[in-house]
Amino acid sequence: MVNNPLRKQLHEENRLSWNEATKAHNSHKGNQAKFFQNGGNTLFPEEIELLGDITGLSVVHLQCNAGQDSLSLSRLGAVVTGVDISDEAISFAKKLSQETGITVTFYRADIFDWLEETAQKNEQVDIVFCSYGAVCWISDISLWAKGIALILKHGGRLVLIEFHPVAMMFDSDWSHKFPYFREGQPLTWEEGISDYVAASSEGLTLSEYETGIENFQNPYRSHEFQWSISEIVTALLQAGLSLEVLQEYPYSNGCKLFERMREATGRRWIPPDDVPNLPLMYGIVAHKP
Ligand SMILES: C[S@@+](CC[C@H](N)C(=O)[O-])C[C@H]1O[C@@H](n2cnc3c(N)ncnc32)[C@H](O)[C@@H]1O
Repeated sequence: MVNNPLRKQLHEENRLSWNEATKAHNSHKGNQAKFFQNGGNTLFPEEIELLGDITGLSVVHLQCNAGQDSLSLSRLGAVVTGVDISDEAISFAKKLSQETGITVTFYRADIFDWLEETAQKNEQVDIVFCSYGAVCWISDISLWAKGIALILKHGGRLVLIEFHPVAMMFDSDWSHKFPYFREGQPLTWEEGISDYVAASSEGLTLSEYETGIENFQNPYRSHEFQWSISEIVTALLQAGLSLEVLQEYPYSNGCKLFERMREATGRRWIPPDDVPNLPLMYGIVAHKP
């Protein structure tokens, strides 16, 4: 297993890129407070099933972005903390929490700092949750897994639902462009984080799609770190967690990952007819014995 150095400088560049992208993303999502005030919940059935009953449990939502899923976890009865590196995302999340009266504690931090500080304070939680587009920003998968293991109570669980690294081998036109085995080497996008919410239209909005910011150009580049399924699972096992569930899904939730994808029911996207099926998402549940 290859260990990468923690690349804090690249995380900081990602913070700038996420700040800009988050503004564009939220500009398409309409009145989000109203969505929650009307009883809305942004979680998909897949993560609700992996989470199980979370009533009364402490849940840390790592890389929570603008907090919509964190509020939704709280709505399911959990005591929720959300952590994200983006200033824009966390200030939006705090405002959404205030406007809706749905209580979540939000912290703006690099998760590596937050995990270390939380472990030093001997604070532990029942569930660590992360989802959809989180692991590709992790520059050291081994340290990430160890940090999660340290803040879980015995019997506590990591619940992860993610886009599959196999899907990340393809360019937007489905051509096989990127290697599967990257061992977390940084992949730099000079154009930064895109307005993928605009590309996914109602797949990623809470109600009707709003035009919002048009022709978004991100002034800040971004850096991703791809990890294979075996690198992710091995990191969790080496951190002392026991694997309970490893599941793969032939569709993507919310995000239209590639051109010509077809929208299925429940805000899911499936490949076009001429593309044989492939794993587009995976789910992991691992507990601390
Ligand atoms: C695709 S979003 C995740 C969205 C999430 N599924 C949700 O609930 O909305 C990825 C998030 O990771 C955050 N991020 C990237 N690197 C990070 C780091 N080192 N520490 C904390 N957050 C980070 C970004 O700011 C961004 O909000």
